[in-house]
Amino acid sequence: MLTFSIIKADTGGHVGHSAVHPAMLATASSRVHDAIDAGLLIDGTVAACGDDISLIMTHQRGTDAADIHGFAWDVFQSTTRVARQYGLYGAGQDLLSDAFSGNLRGMGPGYAELDLIERPSEPVICFLADKTEPGAWNLPLYKIFADPFNTPGLVIDTKMHAGFRFEVYDLHEHKRIWFDCPADLYEMLMYIGAPSRYVIHQVRSRTLDEVAAATSTQRLSLIAGKYVGKDDPVMIIRAQSGLPAVGEVLEPFAFPYSVAGAMRGSHHAPFMPVSLGQAHPSRFDGPPRVVALGFQVHDGLLGRQRDLFDDPSFDEARHQANVVMDYLRRHGPFEPHRLPLEDLEYTTMAQLEARLADRWEPLPSPGRQPATSPA
Ligand code: 13P
Ligand code: 13P
Ligand code: MG
Ligand code: MG
Repeated sequence: MLTFSIIKADTGGHVGHSAVHPAMLATASSRVHDAIDAGLLIDGTVAACGDDISLIMTHQRGTDAADIHGFAWDVFQSTTRVARQYGLYGAGQDLLSDAFSGNLRGMGPGYAELDLIERPSEPVICFLADKTEPGAWNLPLYKIFADPFNTPGLVIDTKMHAGFRFEVYDLHEHKRIWFDCPADLYEMLMYIGAPSRYVIHQVRSRTLDEVAAATSTQRLSLIAGKYVGKDDPVMIIRAQSGLPAVGEVLEPFAFPYSVAGAMRGSHHAPFMPVSLGQAHPSRFDGPPRVVALGFQVHDGLLGRQRDLFDDPSFDEARHQANVVMDYLRRHGPFEPHRLPLEDLEYTTMAQLEARLADRWEPLPSPGRQPATSPA
């Protein structure tokens, strides 16, 4: 049994929230190499999307392992120290607690993990995003694992005819449900179409009885009770041989759908698929970015990484994203560019409500004179 883990955190931005400083990446990489040498990890690499650092790791400790989570926590403490040393923006932004206590749950860093029995050929795709939220994966996961117009394999490959099981979390009420697709498809869409609350946590193949996809499903704002940055998500998807092909997994991102999270975590903007070299959201702290890193995992080793959106066939999606960004920006502070009030995290609505409380008055009841406006 092999465990594939991505653990990520924003521990400081360069410049503002746009990217990670190379010195922080160098620190994280050297710590990962030490952990491979020490036998904690089988393999590992470090990548950044925007201001978030992802540790991509293989090991044999299982999901939610204290020593793996503790290692990642230590790495993020180290990168935070580098961020402080260089005066980078929001040093330690996602580290909500002072001390590690056995598991990263509720502590700020995000993580997607899955256990797998390595197949003779094991293609794995890691998606890393910045300036959005975990529910941003709902739409592509639906298309990849439930929509035959995206994934002809659902029709052509008999190993997929039994469909896929989706585990969906309700982030407000801290509960979960399993949907069996295609049977439960319409019911599931009612929930996952509201991605700020309902988030797909994992997808399993019914035929293979194995995990096909896993996402990071935390919401920092719900953990911390106030805005502390977006919990820019990550996702792991296994491909081929009874699972969707690599091209079917990437296909949904050819449509730059709108996601929540740009500028102060408070705006809808198009999700732009980019290469690592373009994963630095700077216009209006956006548009939100997604990178896809492909690996042929073999004997637990990651092998050579492929930057899958570094492909001109995604140029049109990037172009459309820019057009949509122009259109949405012209709404300024109006919805639907700005998020609905309940999702607004930076704006301290509670404080505003308190300040204006005694200026609100009831509407005049029918048949009575309207109140005069104050002088
Ligand atoms: P191959 O026949 O090259 O294995 O391709 C199968 C496939 O999944 C293409 O989408
Ligand atoms: P991050 O969550 O990527 O730090 O972005 C925060 C933000 O508010 C950008 O405008
Ligand atoms: Mg940040
Ligand atoms: Mg970020």
